[in-house]
Amino acid sequence: MTASTLKFDPPVIAHRGVRAEAPENTLTAFRQAIAQGVRWLETDVKLTHDGMPILIHDDLLDRTTNGHGPVADMVWAEMKNLDAGSWFNPSFADARIPHLAEALRFVLDNKLRLNLELKPCPGRTQATVMVSMIEAAKIWTPEFEPPLISSFDVNALIIASRLHPDWPRGLLLDQWQDNWPELVKMTDVATININEAVLTADRVQQLKESGHIVLSYTVNDPIRAKELLHWGVTAVFSDNPKEIIKSL
Ligand code: G3P
Ligand code: MG
Repeated sequence: MTASTLKFDPPVIAHRGVRAEAPENTLTAFRQAIAQGVRWLETDVKLTHDGMPILIHDDLLDRTTNGHGPVADMVWAEMKNLDAGSWFNPSFADARIPHLAEALRFVLDNKLRLNLELKPCPGRTQATVMVSMIEAAKIWTPEFEPPLISSFDVNALIIASRLHPDWPRGLLLDQWQDNWPELVKMTDVATININEAVLTADRVQQLKESGHIVLSYTVNDPIRAKELLHWGVTAVFSDNPKEIIKSL
């Protein structure tokens, strides 16, 4: 798979938007990324009960909205007016859960790059990948560089590879797994997006020698970011990119 469209300058990706300054995975958090001079955003997509692709990290609504219970049990009409900002700070009470299409339009209108993390609720892998990628393909016209599609879910990446073989993919690894060569082969990914806590210089070298771009999450300490970049990590996901950028 070609990785030629994957340029990271500055080498920092806003994790769920700038979640240090605004409620995560909202358009407000995405706007903060522009204000911080970031080019890449990472966000998480799941389906509502009725199949609307929306941006939210948890399987439950409770932490990041004033709703309750599983995302997969509620329809979009019930969810779209939930307050997705007061939990962070009452001044963000107007924030709503974005649906995927509005977030994609925001990305393209602002000439940003997107890492779309497919984060299916339990048992919903196939539907989440298909609906999200079909929605993205309606909006993503060829003049724009494609999104990076990532997931912890190997099956999601395999389905994604069949739908849009030309869109780059990233395998998320939360732990060091000795079978990573097998996993990257199965998923034909361009990037390996790995938890910074499990990285050493030697492991970064191993991953890079396989020809993959290494991205690492979640890095909020500028000293650690510099170390990872020095070892050969191409870019880091950060909740507060400006702190990393100003230290480089
Ligand atoms: O894509 C990097 C990172 O977002 C993966 O972990 O749990 O924050 O989605 P998580
Ligand atoms: Mg994520």
